[in-house]
This record gives sequence, C-alpha cells and structure tokens, in this order.
Amino acid sequence: MRFDILTLFPDMFESVFRESIIRRAVEAGLVSIHLHNIRDYALDKHHVTDDAPYGGGGGMVMKVEPVILALEVVVGAERLAAQKRSGEVEAPVVLLTPAGRLFSQEIAREYERVGRIVLICGRYEGLDERAITLGVTDEVSIGDYVLSGGEIPAMAIVEAVTRLVPGVLGDMRALVDDSHASGLLEYPHYTRPATFRGLAVPDILLSGNHAQVERWRREQALRRTYARRPDLLARAALSARDRAFLNSLREPAPPRDLASAPATSEPRGSPYAQALTTTSEEGERPMSKRFRGYYGIAMTPFNERGDILWDELEKEADWVVRAGAHGLVWPVNDSEFTRLAFPERMEGIKRVVDAVGGRIPVIIGVADVFTTGAVRLAEASARAGADAVIALPPARTTMALDRALIKAYYRAIAEAGGLPVMIQNLSIPLGADLSTEFIVELCEEIPLVELVKEERELQRQRVSEIVAARSPAIKAIFGGGTVLGLVDGHKRGADGYLAASYVPDIDAQIWDLMEAGDEAGARRVEDALAVLEKARRGTPEHYVDRKQILVWRGVFSCNVARIGTRPLDDAFLAELRYGYQAVEPYFRV
Ligand code: 6GU
Repeated sequence: MRFDILTLFPDMFESVFRESIIRRAVEAGLVSIHLHNIRDYALDKHHVTDDAPYGGGGGMVMKVEPVILALEVVVGAERLAAQKRSGEVEAPVVLLTPAGRLFSQEIAREYERVGRIVLICGRYEGLDERAITLGVTDEVSIGDYVLSGGEIPAMAIVEAVTRLVPGVLGDMRALVDDSHASGLLEYPHYTRPATFRGLAVPDILLSGNHAQVERWRREQALRRTYARRPDLLARAALSARDRAFLNSLREPAPPRDLASAPATSEPRGSPYAQALTTTSEEGERPMSKRFRGYYGIAMTPFNERGDILWDELEKEADWVVRAGAHGLVWPVNDSEFTRLAFPERMEGIKRVVDAVGGRIPVIIGVADVFTTGAVRLAEASARAGADAVIALPPARTTMALDRALIKAYYRAIAEAGGLPVMIQNLSIPLGADLSTEFIVELCEEIPLVELVKEERELQRQRVSEIVAARSPAIKAIFGGGTVLGLVDGHKRGADGYLAASYVPDIDAQIWDLMEAGDEAGARRVEDALAVLEKARRGTPEHYVDRKQILVWRGVFSCNVARIGTRPLDDAFLAELRYGYQAVEPYFRV
C-alpha cells in the first residue's frame, strides 16, 4: 500500500508515523508513505501557496498551481488527466475537506483494495476549485466538525487503511471483532482483577463456557449498537437470532392516540404559522393546516443562450399565486435545479420569495451533494423569509444508503434554517428510496423535519403507506412526481400535491373541488387535464414541452431547458396544442 501525502506541514506527521502499527507496517515493507511539501512546488520567488479569494470575503485560498504541479509529479501528468477524463481511477486523489463525503470503514476498505492513494491536506478556507476539477477524484471528511487543516484527518485515514493491509495486524481476529468491521459496535472488554472498587467482571466471562461467552458478547454488541448507533443496524449482517434479540430490546410502540402527540414547534416567521395553526376538536393535538393543497413548482426560465431570465422567474411566481396555487416551490427537479449554479440558487431564493410576497407559503429546494451546500441554502432561505425548505437526501447516498449521513444532513438543514423541512422521497437513482419506517424515524427524531413529499415508485400507494404510518411528528404528506394524482391523492388522505406548475389553475381547481366535496366536478377537470397529458406522452423533451405551454400562456418568452433542449417538431406541437385546448376553458389567469 502506497500513500502520498501533499501537505504544507510535513513535520506534523513524523512522530505519528514513527510509532506503533504504522511504523511496523513501514518497516515490514507492507506500506510506504511519501510526504510532499506543497511549498516545494510553488515556483515563485517567495514560494507562495495561498492567496486572497476572488469575490472577496475572509480567509485565504490554496493556490491551484503548486497543488497541480505536485500532483503531476507524484501521479504523472498523463495519468492524472486520464483518470479524471475516463473515471477509471488508478491512484485516487483524495482531498481532505469538511465538505467531503463521510469517511468510513467501507471507504478505508475501498482504498486498501486500490493499493495506492494520494491525500491532499486542504486548509479550511479551501482549495481553488480548479485544482479539484483537474486532479481530485474524491473528497472526504472525517466528521461533522471543523479542523484547521486536513493533516490530522490524513493521519486517521493512513492508520485506518494500514490496519487493513494483510499482514499488518498479527492477530486477524482482532480485526474482525473491531467496532465497525462487522457493522456493529464492539462489546465491552475486561481483564484482571476480577473485582475493582466493588465492580465485578460479568460472571459469564469467568464461566469458561465459550459458546455462552460468544453469545453474550454478540448481544452486548447488538445492545450497544441499538442504543448508540441504531443507524448501523440497517447495514449490519444480522442472523434471525440477532433480530429476535433486537426485537426484545424495542420498547413497546407508543399508542398512536392523539393525546400522546408531542407539541408542535413554535411557529416562526410566516403569517401562515399563526393564522393556520389550529387545535383539533379532540383538544390535545396541535394540528397544523399550514401546508395543504396544490403546491406549484416554478420552472426556471432561460434565454436561447441558457442564461436565467430573472424577471420571468418573478413573473412566473406571481402568476402561479394568481392562478390559485396554495403554495410555491423552487428550485427542485422540475426547476432543473441540478443545472443551476450555487450563486444562481442563492439569487433565485430572494427573487422567488419576494415575488410571492407572503401571499402563499414558499418552499425552497435546498438539496445539494454536500451538507455544507444544503446548509447554506437553508440559511439563505430563512434570511429571505421562506416558509419551509425541501430536500432530497444527499446525492451520494444513492450508492449506499447511509442512515447516519442522511440523519446528519437533515438535522443540519433543520438547524441551519430553523424552518420546517420537507423530505423529498424519490426512488434511486435521483433519490434514495427511504423506507416508510425510516421517514417516520427522521421526523420523530429531528425537530422541524416534519413534512414529506412521497414519490417513490408505486407513488400513489406509497402515499397511502405514509398516511397509514402517520406519526404525530409528520405534519403534512404530499404526493407528487406525476401529474393526474390530485383526486386520487386527496382520497388517499394526502395533505397536498406538489407538481410542475404549467397549468397551476387546473391543479389548484381540482384540489379546491375535492376540498369542497365535489369529486365529480374535480374529475371533470382532471379528465380535461388527462387530454393534455396524453398529448405530452412520448414527448422528445418533457421540460421543453411544459415550457412551451408557459410560452403559450404568456409567462415565458422561450422554451429552452438547460437539462437538454431538442426542438419539438410540428406534428408534436400540433398534438400539444390540441391538449392545451382541452384545459383552456378552465384557465383562471
Ligand atoms: Cl477532512 N478537514 C478539515 N479541515 N476539517 C475536518 C475534516 C477534514 N473532517 C472533519 N473536519
């Protein structure tokens, strides 16, 4: 196993690597560690390695040139470029940064299998993004706290990986039993004396019965994991006997009666909070009606060059309100949020909230690959005066569902914004296919995580599933993801429906008719909408066609999508126009 470490402080590593396991592994020739001082690759007279950030603000940024030069020397310029280009990584280049994915035993195993890694110790203010673009293949953090540099995290990673190299640990059993290797936390250990200050070693360990000792240790490991890190149980290899034992630990489920419901969090900010939070007839359960109805997703308008048309986004937000939508959402999938730059999202948040002007609730999409990004978007949403935020789980969890990471992510979002959080539950690959049980757990454990948009596969039935499991901690359940679900969703007991807003007056009307108890009327409007949806089926581009409808409605000037724009041919446009005419009689604006 070969480690190359790029750092501004190589001396920090000496004493750590001179001791114990790492030293023995190096001496035995099982690992080699190469320290590279980034300053040696700063070719200017003063060996400058950092500089002030473009755009201003505090702190310094690590310069791109020395880091790339060092990588080119260490990895080879050809290979460095080739592995970024092809994605076939021979020498992972890992940046240590609090914005990275969370390091784990699994990642340690992954690095050990590759046999070679290059670690770049970033400093907290960050590395010039172009160094990441050109060289970095992985970004890793060792926990949700901030250190002033990546040196200590690099040491942790070198040690975790070294322990996995065959031959490094003499006793292989120690490796198997370690916390995390088996997916469980380790059982408690004891050695002589048998009694210390009145505390005796558990009898079973003195019994000499190996089978019983093994069973006791296993149960202790299960008990600890259940108490301290229940998130690990989802991925641990468990026998039927383990499961039976875990079930015996579980407290009886609290009765789902209304009186045992926890109090709602203090409503904040928005006028809706006070006005619409009422108390149900049963008296005890504070019932929020705040988030209910058809919530329109604003699509993002672009010109032919792909620039955002800010005035049209504002116009659209105002139009959705006037069309009668009960809430507005931006930016999520139908807003092409994955194609928006971070500063565009920050700017759009203010624009959209201001354009709605408090007339209906606004929910801002804050999902990001990294928790730090989502947190900044949640903070900006709160500052702008949004009413809630919505977030998909962090993107990398689609590869391996990591419950601890997902929890930390939603908790960070809730704490950063102080706003109610809507979990967007979508199937893999875009979502993480969270189970109903895990959704309930998230809402029960994390204050303000209290709204759900359910759109896994079998979406309509999944809405019923969440409704059936309804915990007092879930304040609203929304359907979405496919149109034509309003009548059905209302009947299933959903609180609302969230979908792209190209005919918001139609969607809002269907909901209003259902609320008024006029299912026949609601169905007539939904049937008209079905004609439009039929015309859209098999569309060459389902963003462009909906934007085309917004063009016909006089809201957008252009149907361009960043997610991919192919022109609609005349025959398709004629079909679309036919569908459009079917809903036209129901337009309100
Ligand atoms: Cl990898 N770097 C820094 N600077 N701080 C951290 C970290 C890394 N992981 C957790 N905190």
